[in-house]
Amino acid sequence: MSTVLITGCSSGFGLETARHFLENGWSVIATMRKPDATLLLNSDKLRILPLDVSDKASIDSAVEAAGEIDALVNNAGVGWLSPFEGTSDENLRRLFETNTIGTMEMIRAVLPQMRAKGAGVIVNVSSSVTLKPLPIASVYTASKAAVNAFTECLALELGPLGIRSHVVLPGQAPTTSFGKNAMSLMAQTSDTPEDYQDFVVQIMQAFRDPTGKELTESKDVVEAIWNAVTDANSPLRIPAGKDAVALAG
Ligand SMILES: NC(=O)c1ccc[n+]([C@@H]2O[C@H](COP(=O)([O-])OP(=O)(O)OC[C@H]3O[C@@H](n4cnc5c(N)ncnc54)[C@H](OP(=O)(O)O)[C@@H]3O)[C@@H](O)[C@H]2O)c1
Repeated sequence: MSTVLITGCSSGFGLETARHFLENGWSVIATMRKPDATLLLNSDKLRILPLDVSDKASIDSAVEAAGEIDALVNNAGVGWLSPFEGTSDENLRRLFETNTIGTMEMIRAVLPQMRAKGAGVIVNVSSSVTLKPLPIASVYTASKAAVNAFTECLALELGPLGIRSHVVLPGQAPTTSFGKNAMSLMAQTSDTPEDYQDFVVQIMQAFRDPTGKELTESKDVVEAIWNAVTDANSPLRIPAGKDAVALAG
């Protein structure tokens, strides 16, 4: 029996990935900042643990409580669209603490047990925004581009130890809570200088307008994560969703 630990299971890709692994007979440790047992069907293969990936103590206690795992899926993340000058120091750090350092610290916490076993899989959920420069996405893109580069280097040092590393690059998926959560953070804390306002309005309109766009569905991301974990021949970088696949060329 195999066990996967997934971060950020309260909604979106994380929740759907937890459901998929459970349906396919895996033991699942679904982690959430605020555990909510009503989100997933009760199962003796399911454990829900509290985990805030920006808090080292929370990571250590979740990984200790989890015990032995075969796969780690670093899915937790926060979005942010704003000119760099409208991004406070606090939000800059929040993005990197969650998307980048949270991913690294989760890996640091599980590596000793994977190294001891000589086996394990790490899947980091990044973003297709890293495949093409976009305005007002500098901070979010940087937080995810660092994850890509980190994963690619890590794969080289962990491969010889029997541990696989992959990065999944989802495209734009409006059906998760990602946009709503990002908009709420932006509404509360963005402080964009007036000179950017017209430009930001144009970019946000284009971003929200689905006309003629190929988009990503949660099932695309679930499938990419599933393939990365279960197929030893999966590529290191896996675009997920039609738009991401097109961007990856
Ligand atoms: N949707 C998209 O368009 C898209 C595109 C490319 C990449 N992605 C990436 O895909 C991943 C999942 O996003 P999603 O679309 O499924 O969005 P989502 O529905 O907002 O899910 C994000 C998850 O991350 C959790 N999270 C946020 N901060 C956390 C922290 N400090 N510790 C632990 N968990 C935390 C959230 O928990 P709370 O409920 O506690 O906030 C939530 O469970 C993210 O890494 C995101 O960057 C999304």
